[in-house]
Amino acid sequence: MSIRLPFIKNKQKTSNDKQMEMETENIPNHVAIIMDGNGRWAKKRALPRIAGHKEGVNSVVKVVRAAYKSNIKVLTLYAFSTENWKRPKPEIEYLMKLPKEFLHIHLPELMEKNVRIQTIGDFESLPTHTKKAVQYAIDKTKGNDGLLLNFALNYGSRDEIMQAIKQIMTDIDGSKLSIDSLDEQIFSKYLYTQGLSDPDLLIRTSGEQRLSNFLLWQLAYTEFWFTDVLWPDFSEEVFQEAIQEYQQRQRRYGGI
Ligand code: IPE
Ligand code: IPE
Ligand code: MG
Repeated sequence: MSIRLPFIKNKQKTSNDKQMEMETENIPNHVAIIMDGNGRWAKKRALPRIAGHKEGVNSVVKVVRAAYKSNIKVLTLYAFSTENWKRPKPEIEYLMKLPKEFLHIHLPELMEKNVRIQTIGDFESLPTHTKKAVQYAIDKTKGNDGLLLNFALNYGSRDEIMQAIKQIMTDIDGSKLSIDSLDEQIFSKYLYTQGLSDPDLLIRTSGEQRLSNFLLWQLAYTEFWFTDVLWPDFSEEVFQEAIQEYQQRQRRYGGI
């Protein structure tokens, strides 16, 4: 803490003031994270892959708390992709139990923090027990207007675009929509992310530098940040590192 001397009339900005400004200026509105590396984290410890997923849940808790503290409005977490069904059945079954476990423990804290839970993806094709737990949390938190915690569950961007196109064709057929009125804004309303602003910052852990079918449309002008840190090792410090780097970026959107 700096000591403010009473005789300084024209207050100069101290390095502490600058630090404070830096922390609150240009905070991303929407952060999306590809939470990757659970399996490798477990492998390094000679543990089964599911041990990595279990540990990964703790990182979810950490990142939600960090996003809440940083006043981020939307946090989208890629939890299960449409391609993850290719994995061994026991691993899938374990992953499908995690939302319930997470919510059972943390829903009270999320309520207290005024967090609203939402999902993107093909919700209907999830196992009934998963849907039930998640739907309960969605309903319970729907009146909250703080951080929007958006889980990408059984999400695939190509699947999202395909279902949007099919719905658009149906609406054109049923005269609910005309081809002439279709534009980017209306198209966006047919995506799972309808109503959400595009992510400002995308984080991917574990050293992979690819999108793995995540938000292909929505990431058109998003800033990307990659780290070698494996998801179970993710921490508030790593999150802050990403935010600070984002704050230095210059976004031009094709302008000058
Ligand atoms: C991310 O970790 C979690 C999910 C994709 C469900 P992985 O399970 O992909 O971990 P790695 O990439 O094999 O290390
Ligand atoms: C992306 O990770 C999906 C999630 C984090 C849920 P993957 O581990 O499935 O991606 P690839 O297979 O390495 O591209
Ligand atoms: Mg992976």
